[in-house]
This record gives sequence, C-alpha cells and structure tokens, in this order.
Amino acid sequence: MYFKQILDERCGCASYLIASRQSLEAAIVDPSIETEQYEPLLRERGFTLRYVIDTHVHADHVSGARKLAAEHGAELCLHASARVAYPFRPLSNGEELPLGQLKLRILHTPGHRPELISILVVNPPRSPEPSMVLTGDSLLVGDVGRPDFGGGDASAQFESVSKLLRLPDWVAVFPGHFEGPCGKGMCGRPSTTIGFERLYSPLLHMDREPFVSALNYGIPARPLNMTAIEATNRGVADMPWAMLTSSPLVDEVGIEAIDSAPPNAVVLDVREAEEFARGHVPGAVNLPQADLANRLDEVPRDRPILTICQSGMRSFRSAQFLRQQGYQRVATVVGGTAAWRAAGRPIEATEPDTEPLRIADSEWAHAGAMRTNTTEPRVPTSR
Ligand SMILES: [Fe+2]
Repeated sequence: MYFKQILDERCGCASYLIASRQSLEAAIVDPSIETEQYEPLLRERGFTLRYVIDTHVHADHVSGARKLAAEHGAELCLHASARVAYPFRPLSNGEELPLGQLKLRILHTPGHRPELISILVVNPPRSPEPSMVLTGDSLLVGDVGRPDFGGGDASAQFESVSKLLRLPDWVAVFPGHFEGPCGKGMCGRPSTTIGFERLYSPLLHMDREPFVSALNYGIPARPLNMTAIEATNRGVADMPWAMLTSSPLVDEVGIEAIDSAPPNAVVLDVREAEEFARGHVPGAVNLPQADLANRLDEVPRDRPILTICQSGMRSFRSAQFLRQQGYQRVATVVGGTAAWRAAGRPIEATEPDTEPLRIADSEWAHAGAMRTNTTEPRVPTSR
C-alpha cells in the first residue's frame, strides 16, 4: 500500500492519500481546496483516483472534494446522512470500499457532526485486522472533536470514541486535524495510537456526564467565517473566498487608538454575542468572526475599521481577512477588550458578568496566521 498524510499549516487540517501499489487505485480523504497539491502525487506514481471521501461536512475549511472528484471522475463519498445539495455516493456503517487489495471499512462515528465517519484501513495480505484508522474529527490527538459545529452531539461523541477505543492498541490514529478550532486540547502531533490515547487522553478517562460537560463548556469561539464555509461545503453557497488564504500585514494598535480614532471609525467586536453582551467597548458593533464573510456587506469599506476581540487573536485574523477582501483601513486592537478593561476604561454590557462563560478565550496555535509585526505572545491552549 501507499499512504501519505498531507498537513495544511494554515488551517491545522490533515488530508490523506491511500493507494494500492498493486492496482494503482487511490483514495483521497478530506482534501484541501488546493487540490493541485495532490496531482503530482497521483501522477508520479501512476495512481488512478477512485474515491474522494470527506469524513464530514467541514465547517472550518473549504473542502476540495467535489473539485477533485469531478476532475478525476472519481466517486465522491460521504456518509449517507450528509445533508448536502449535490450528488454523492452514500456510505453506511460497516461498508467496505475495495481499493486493490486494500479495504476501507467505514465506521459511522457521529458527534462532531452527525454524518462523521472514521475509515479503518485493512490490508488483508498483511493482516485481517485494521492497522490504521482515519478518524476525521472524532478522536483527535489528546482530544476529541467539539460538537457545536452544526448538528453535533457530545453524547454521540462519547459513544463514537468509546467505539473507537475498542480497537486494538496498535491501531494508528490519523485525525482530520492536528491543530485548529475543531478541538480545544490537541497536542499538536499529527498522529497517535489507540493504545496511547486510551492511556493518556484526559477526556477518555471521563464518564459520560463529565465528558459531555467538558465538550459543551469552555470551548473556543467558532472559527473565522464558519457559517460561509459550512454552507459552501454543503453546496448551498459558493464562497470559497471565505477562507483566509493569505497573511496580509495589518496595523496593530493599542487601546488608545480607539480614543483617537476618527468619528466615522467602526470598532468591530468579532467575539461571540454572549461574550459581547457581558461587556464591550462602548459603541462597538458586534459581528462574530464566524459570521464575518456572510455579513461582509455590514462592514463599510469607506470607513476605518478597528477590529477587537477578547485578547487580540480573533481580531487579528479578522483584520487579515478584511485586508484579504480589499479593505484598506483596517487595524486590530492588541490586547483586546481585556486590555481595555484592565486599563479601567468604561464597559457597556447588556448581561451580568457573573456566571462562567461557555466560550473560553483561548486561541489555538495557528501556524499560518502568525502575528506578523509584533512580538506579543499568543495565548497557547495546546498541551
Ligand atoms: Fe470538522
């Protein structure tokens, strides 16, 4: 067999090329929208692409599955429950896709999303048992996929990872993400084993109730442009430009810039509504980063924009996206609302700030969106 993991540093995603060296048939799993990167891999080895499989409808990056399948005449595969607006080959639990001597055995593992599948790779000449499993965003390295990206369910995730943990210790785990917003505690390694995760993943030692609560509380904010990206991947919108694909320089300013901004400047708070309600810079407008692309027409192009969030990372990426979309006068407020509060500035709120927030202000390491002109450290969440 041939197996290659392809890591996308920009969105923390992993895609996979699996092929039979005997039949020269190949499958690509969770392809990135930059499908050109797979072409030399297929061409140089003479592989014919037979299947393109999305483990689920992604919400954090635009999938290249439809494009790749169409270009190669390959079968586009998703779990039968996927609610998308285009034709695909529906997969069911237990089904095996033949790939030369290999078998790709489908395991329905909902939780992150209802249609999420894991793929067990079996190579019968070597062993009747699977040697590896591609887990999408069910079992991640040191974590599991979060359930709040559309139709997910923490209790279903508990069942799914329990099912995966019944696999033998040696089975190698290749997840859909090595970092990024789909989980909150990924360790950063791009692969692991069932045995290691069973022993050392903190979530996997929990009973159902604490597991469910750990998944539903203290979660990072929804990712940048999530609503536009998810709709694009379902085929009900066509907004591939919603992905942040560049790292433009943006002006980074302190909280004083809010005081000295021209009267027509917009302070754009890109936190979730519940964070905004607990306290924001007076006069700020709330537009969560997840909805930014969908609601771009609400962001005036002819006025200076100051993006702000809790501590400065979401606003930085949002400002980069606005620059990518051609906005000229965009700056991000370093230190965010936390710095504003710490300086004793007035706060406007519509809800009491007493109970703990469901959203944790934790920004995951994101290699493709490094701060470009500051040395301020980001808040790490990975272990
Ligand atoms: Fe995902």
